[in-house]
Amino acid sequence: MKEKLMEIRERAEKELSELRDASELENFRVQVLGKKGELTGILKQMGTLSAEERPKMGQLANEVRASIEAMLKEKTAELKGREQEAKLKKETIDVTLPGHKHEIGHKHPLSIVLDEVKDIFVGMGFQIATGPEVEWDYYNFEALNLPPDHPARDTQDTFYITEKMLLRTQTSPVQIRVMEKQEPPIRIIAPGRVYRSDAVDATHSPFFHQIEGLVVDKGITMGDLKGSLMQFAKRLYGEDTEIRLRPHHFPFTEPSCEMDVTCFKCGGKGCPMCKGEGWVEILGGGMVHPKVLKNGGVDPEVYSGYAFGVGLERLTMFRFNIDDMRLLFENDARFLNQF
Ligand code: DAH
Repeated sequence: MKEKLMEIRERAEKELSELRDASELENFRVQVLGKKGELTGILKQMGTLSAEERPKMGQLANEVRASIEAMLKEKTAELKGREQEAKLKKETIDVTLPGHKHEIGHKHPLSIVLDEVKDIFVGMGFQIATGPEVEWDYYNFEALNLPPDHPARDTQDTFYITEKMLLRTQTSPVQIRVMEKQEPPIRIIAPGRVYRSDAVDATHSPFFHQIEGLVVDKGITMGDLKGSLMQFAKRLYGEDTEIRLRPHHFPFTEPSCEMDVTCFKCGGKGCPMCKGEGWVEILGGGMVHPKVLKNGGVDPEVYSGYAFGVGLERLTMFRFNIDDMRLLFENDARFLNQF
């Protein structure tokens, strides 16, 4: 029996050193120390020993059990330590590695310029107005002094939804809508999309943006128009920018004008961009026609006003030296990332 006990202890020592995880350890414990384990089996045979030998063997068996338990404990602690170490190694973070870069977007060039234009006019006391893109023929043409057979309608052919409803060709209908709702003094700009049945090329698109301006009050003159638009041009394109007004015709203004600014590229000397002129046209405007004031419910005997309309794509192309309007709509990131 003594040899057996010693053999169990020796084997335990050897086997224990080879165990690798908690479940193997537990199996080992049951196999050796459990109720049906080897050591327990030997203790059960104690009855067959003589009264003299029994206490000696009992003591030895207890020592063997105690030493195996101690080894088990030590092994458990060792495995735990090793597990912890492996876990720490696995979870190490290298704080010197470069992080993941999150690409954040930015404003489209049209939005950049539109926001600048808004800032400039809001700074001069204008409010922002809007109107529908699906518009009545009445607001888009008739109320603006373009009756059904007016030849100027041909230059603004658009997409009709019904005979009387269309995609607006200009932001000018917002003038009428604002005057209908609001008593003078009126000082608004109205940015928005407009539509025309034009084929796409470097300077045309069936869809583009305009910014309308309208000021109505007592005693408004062409001088107010010129002063405000000069400020606008200088703020947008730089202090050195000069403007000039050329006579023109629009059905909804009288008198009407087109406004040029000194070429951004050559500063007025003449270059391919301005076709040698030194000037580029950026907007149309004039004094609001008395009929238009009337259609908006404003008395032309008491009030006068000026209006203007400017193409946002054109402003943006001049501003950033873009020579093809299509670039603004193609959403090519290689282009857009430059702004
Ligand atoms: N609506 C005109 C266009 O699309 C631009 C314009 C010209 C607007 C003169 C105005 C204006 O308010 O007074 O061509």
